[in-house]
Amino acid sequence: MRVLLTGAAGFVGGHVGAALVDRGHEVVAIDAMLGSAHGRAARVPRGVVRVDVRDGDALRRVLRGVEVVCHQSAVVGAGVDAADAPAYASHNDYGTAVLLAGMHRRGCRRLVLASSMVVYGDGRYRCPDHGRVDPAPRDRGDLDDGVFDHRCPVGGEPLSWEMVPEDAPLRPRSLYAASKLAQENYALAWSLATGGSVTALRYHNVYGDRMPRDTPYSGVAAMFRSALDAGRAPTVFEDGGQTRDFVHVRDVAEANVLAVEAALGGFEPVNVCSGKPITIGDVALALTRARDGPAPVVTGQYRPGDVRHIVADPRRAAAVLGFRASITPGAGLAEFAAAPMRDTIPSEAPHV
Ligand code: UD1
Repeated sequence: MRVLLTGAAGFVGGHVGAALVDRGHEVVAIDAMLGSAHGRAARVPRGVVRVDVRDGDALRRVLRGVEVVCHQSAVVGAGVDAADAPAYASHNDYGTAVLLAGMHRRGCRRLVLASSMVVYGDGRYRCPDHGRVDPAPRDRGDLDDGVFDHRCPVGGEPLSWEMVPEDAPLRPRSLYAASKLAQENYALAWSLATGGSVTALRYHNVYGDRMPRDTPYSGVAAMFRSALDAGRAPTVFEDGGQTRDFVHVRDVAEANVLAVEAALGGFEPVNVCSGKPITIGDVALALTRARDGPAPVVTGQYRPGDVRHIVADPRRAAAVLGFRASITPGAGLAEFAAAPMRDTIPSEAPHV
């Protein structure tokens, strides 16, 4: 198939492009080469054309004959402060709107969209006495006393986590999350209006080779790797019991290939995860053991905006796409501990 791949020079996009080519697809690879992601002097990789998805005229040219768009380009991270809002809205929301309009004009009716688990917000929790509940926000007093788990809003009991399915309520908590949900919503409206199909792949914590080194916009895996590379111990916040699903970037690429080839109808959101939850403390241990590095330091410090547990339910991806991650966090993190990383410019914020 002829596939337009946006964000083709990025961490995930680079792996998706390679996987699509391996599977015999014809890939039209574009990237805006944003300074915040690649550095200002970065060369456009071979086979990639410099196109910003917000440029409708350039898009019209590259959309010629395209059957599926695989939309990976986005400003990522959580957003450092409110000054980042226009960059998320411009690249992620507006960029997707321009892309959908261009697809409509060119008669392209299929979109695979890189979404994120951040659309779920806090995750899903259960009280031993009151069943499934929406957790109360974590209390500063509790956090200062080292009580990191959410409490039941009815009786105050500590809550345990449950896997989050795709029909869970969507409650974005960051600028990035707001823009990912906006992308999903524009794509849903486009699908209803045009009869086109959208598979929204909600990535959990993606890691793997060529991940960008840490910046204020990076996730924890890049932070831990950079600490180890500098000979320092990884710094684990809270008690290290925060739970996530770490999914290897090659599995994420495979999920994209399956979504490109599956031709699902309508709007279909799908979790992309390993199905093997792991605590942040265990992520730090796995990386330090593989590197024979200094033992992680669990600080008890906390970041007020952090989610305590967010763990995906992998069953829908298996049912509708036949996707099952093949790389366990144990094997993947051991490999990632010494994998090549991409250099970034730590101080640069995304521009509009
Ligand atoms: C991250 C991304 C989010 C992305 C999602 C899925 C950021 C800031 N968040 O969310 O945008 O969509 O993954 O890929 O990029 N922690 C430490 N030590 C550190 C840094 C963090 O212990 O040095 C802890 C945090 O307190 C938190 C956990 O690690 O509990 C995960 O942090 P992080 O990766 O930043 O955010 P996520 O919520 O997982």
